[in-house]
Amino acid sequence: MIIAMKETLSLKIVQEKVKNCEKCDLCTSRKNAVPGKGNHNADIVFIGEAPGKNEDECGEPFIGTAGKKLNNALKNAGLERSDVYITNIVKCRPPKNRIPNDNEKMMCSNYLEDELAIIKPKIICLLGNTSYHSILGGSEISKNHGKFVSKDGYLYFISFHPAAIIYNQKLEKVFKNDIKKLVDELKKLKTKSGD
Ligand code: URA
Ligand code: SF4
Repeated sequence: MIIAMKETLSLKIVQEKVKNCEKCDLCTSRKNAVPGKGNHNADIVFIGEAPGKNEDECGEPFIGTAGKKLNNALKNAGLERSDVYITNIVKCRPPKNRIPNDNEKMMCSNYLEDELAIIKPKIICLLGNTSYHSILGGSEISKNHGKFVSKDGYLYFISFHPAAIIYNQKLEKVFKNDIKKLVDELKKLKTKSGD
């Protein structure tokens, strides 16, 4: 009998595939592909846009200034990085940090689908416009942040990209409140399901 393959794929295999991937042109300019990283049983998965300079150099997601902002917001809500899983829409850095194009996003999408199918998070947090638009077709984060959306069996939460809050203390507060709201909702879901 043929068993559904997705569930049997381990995250390690996906991560190895990403590291060796040459499916789009971003492989020619990257230093390192950046697979998702974190807790394999995470209740929350965060999805950013694409690796930046630091991430490209080290092969790990969200380790630069934006990553520090995300860490702070997690801590403020009572979580550590090791509690969650963090990944990106595309796994290789676009030159000069340009927004990834449709072809790059499409070629890379199976890795994200596999990550989500394996982890089966209770909530997926979309960080910023590229992530929001790629997955839900949405725009205008400033209007839509803080909202939950159900689609295709997943529950999504919309927020800012942590890079957007770096020079804006007001927005940093809003971002922290969003992440707190996300964690509070998770607690409610877990109480309901008896987890
Ligand atoms: N910005 C992103 O969207 N992803 C990273 O991994 C780092 C910065
Ligand atoms: Fe492969 Fe994605 Fe990197 Fe393109 S961005 S080379 S599809 S891992």
